[in-house]
Amino acid sequence: MLIEIPGLLNAAQLEKLHQTLGGARFVDGKLSAGMAAARVKHNEELAQEPERLQLLYRILMSSLGHNATFKRFALPNKVADFIFARYQPGMAYGDHVDDPIMGSGGPRFRTDVSMTVFLNQPEDYEGGELVIRTPYGEKQVKLAAGGAVIYPSSSLHHVAEVTRGERLVALTWIQSFVRDAARRELLFELDQARDHLLRTAPDDEHSKLVDRSYANLLRMWADV
Ligand code: NI
Repeated sequence: MLIEIPGLLNAAQLEKLHQTLGGARFVDGKLSAGMAAARVKHNEELAQEPERLQLLYRILMSSLGHNATFKRFALPNKVADFIFARYQPGMAYGDHVDDPIMGSGGPRFRTDVSMTVFLNQPEDYEGGELVIRTPYGEKQVKLAAGGAVIYPSSSLHHVAEVTRGERLVALTWIQSFVRDAARRELLFELDQARDHLLRTAPDDEHSKLVDRSYANLLRMWADV
């Protein structure tokens, strides 16, 4: 299951991100790719400039921290530092699966959920769709600036070639409290039912049962 979060970043946050990225240096994306991915990866990534990166992380992490959909779907335990990727005309990223374990420079973490945040408007570039293979066929995603998509890191996916303009995205990976995607999906649906019941019938015994079931399922499946 993949979920779109339109407007993860508001206009002010987007503007601040673009300001901070203005004049930044980008390097070949192959430098951060695993062996199999490097063969098919043709993009650029923001160079390691700690001060600029800290500013960018702060904006993105605070928007994630305030986003209920993200928290309920991903059940985030650890969130990696964002990577900023740029695709100019002729660039693409072929079919690949994201690295299962990341954080070679610091604490290691497992990637359960992958996230792409779109930073440019779709009309600013041609191509550049994120194409994710799901059990129900391929899903193409190209969102308005500030929108994000999250999907299981186990999915095979690629980025279609950009033929005009520039595709700019922020990427991160999440270790979830619940590693299994099917369990996360079930919890996400139950959480929505629970939320509705607690709003509309907070004193009903059935609302309390659903609330308790959610809490205890999460307790049963969570690793910390
Ligand atoms: Ni990927």
